Amino acid sequence: MVFKLTGMNRQRRRQIYLVGFMGSGKSSVGALIAEALGWPFIDLDAVIEAGQRATVREIFERAGEPFFRQLEKAALVEVSKAEPAVIALGGGTFAQPWNAEWIRQTEGVTIWLDCPEEELWHRCAKVQNRPLFRDRSSFSKLLEERLPYYRQAEYRVSTGRRSPEEVAREILRSQIF
Ligand code: S3P
Repeated sequence: MVFKLTGMNRQRRRQIYLVGFMGSGKSSVGALIAEALGWPFIDLDAVIEAGQRATVREIFERAGEPFFRQLEKAALVEVSKAEPAVIALGGGTFAQPWNAEWIRQTEGVTIWLDCPEEELWHRCAKVQNRPLFRDRSSFSKLLEERLPYYRQAEYRVSTGRRSPEEVAREILRSQIF
């Protein structure tokens, strides 16, 4: 089920923003939805990496998180001009109030991919490019801090123990855009 959390129904939704913690499936689900709709898929982290010719991890290591957040904000402003588009945000993008407000002012739909912590942890352990993936207690703490922001998305869909294909199908079936 895709649950409505906040916001008003608007017509002609031509942008989909996928929100959620690292490992929640934003990039894999986003690519599938985009393919099914025939819309471009934009991965915000990939845009930042292409612009810097460096990985997210390298950007954090060389210049620190505040610099990464500036790049993220600039990249968000740029990609939000694309329409139609499916946009996978980074795990921290929607937790920056300025970014969330910017997104709200677009005509885009925001969907939170909600996944239990345990599963997020196991999924992230398989991929190396995440500077904020360290020990379990900082992971938990960061997730706790982020949840109130994710809850401000318009829709929530559970991604726990479900394949990206299943989640994408459910979002497509929900007819929310
Ligand atoms: C971050 C999540 C990452 C990436 C960066 C910071 C975060 O994106 O933007 O490492 O603050 O949670 P993913 O959610 O795609 O891993």
